[in-house]
Amino acid sequence: MEDKTLMQQLKEASAYIESKISIRPEIAIVLGSGLGDLANQITDPVRIPYREIPHFPVSTVAGHAGQLIIGKLGTRSVMCMAGRFHYYEGYSMDRLVFPIQVMRVMGIEKLILTNASGCVNKSWNAGDLMLITDHIKLCADSPMRGPNDPELGERFFDMCNVYEPAYRQIAKEEAARLGITLREGVYQYFTGPNYETPAEVRFARIAGADAVGMSTVPEAIAARHCGLKVLGISCMTNMAAGVTSAPLNHKEVLETSLKIAKQFESLIKSIIERL
Ligand code: HPA
Repeated sequence: MEDKTLMQQLKEASAYIESKISIRPEIAIVLGSGLGDLANQITDPVRIPYREIPHFPVSTVAGHAGQLIIGKLGTRSVMCMAGRFHYYEGYSMDRLVFPIQVMRVMGIEKLILTNASGCVNKSWNAGDLMLITDHIKLCADSPMRGPNDPELGERFFDMCNVYEPAYRQIAKEEAARLGITLREGVYQYFTGPNYETPAEVRFARIAGADAVGMSTVPEAIAARHCGLKVLGISCMTNMAAGVTSAPLNHKEVLETSLKIAKQFESLIKSIIERL
């Protein structure tokens, strides 16, 4: 454990990032597995590898580049995280949400979280995009466990409408305009790195989940805690375990997310123009 307080660490990380850029990003975007190409469409990009940023964790998964990319996407100033941190990599929950809290300290108020997930809803298909309306997390750990810094947020905080209704409305309108099918549903968090068992997927369905995945929820909790508004979009890359008889693998996840990448990118780009 470092001697510096969380707030000191956040301020150092944020000051470092700000020293490298001349714009003020308004919107942060976290890119999920295989969805990283959006970052290549940022104009006048400044790329900052995570390893250069004081106190930042460093990502280890194949398909996750591990850098901040700051610049313009269309008319908006954005900060993209190409590569995110997962609990299964060994980070504690509070460490893996550090970048979200850095965003807050930098004055960013809008956050788009994206991910790849397994489709639990039997009426939908692999390759469908889902607007996250709410989430379920049954794992006991929380990114906000431990001492609370009231400068960031309250000790006990509300979790209604974490996924901002106004942003959801914009996402639906833009999807309709672009002719993209956008499902709406509940994302259930599992810690991974193993995929779920078929019994766990049946349980998730009974619990009310439409998709299962290993990210996003810790970040959404931290974002709510420190007051960021969140939009969550999931690319359901595969039918969840047991929905079909096919075994799951990461290659399939990456292949499907690449197939859907173009649709996903045009949707995100038109959404951010209206956020
Ligand atoms: N389960 C959990 N995480 C995932 C899946 C899945 O089926 N697909 C992509 N990420």
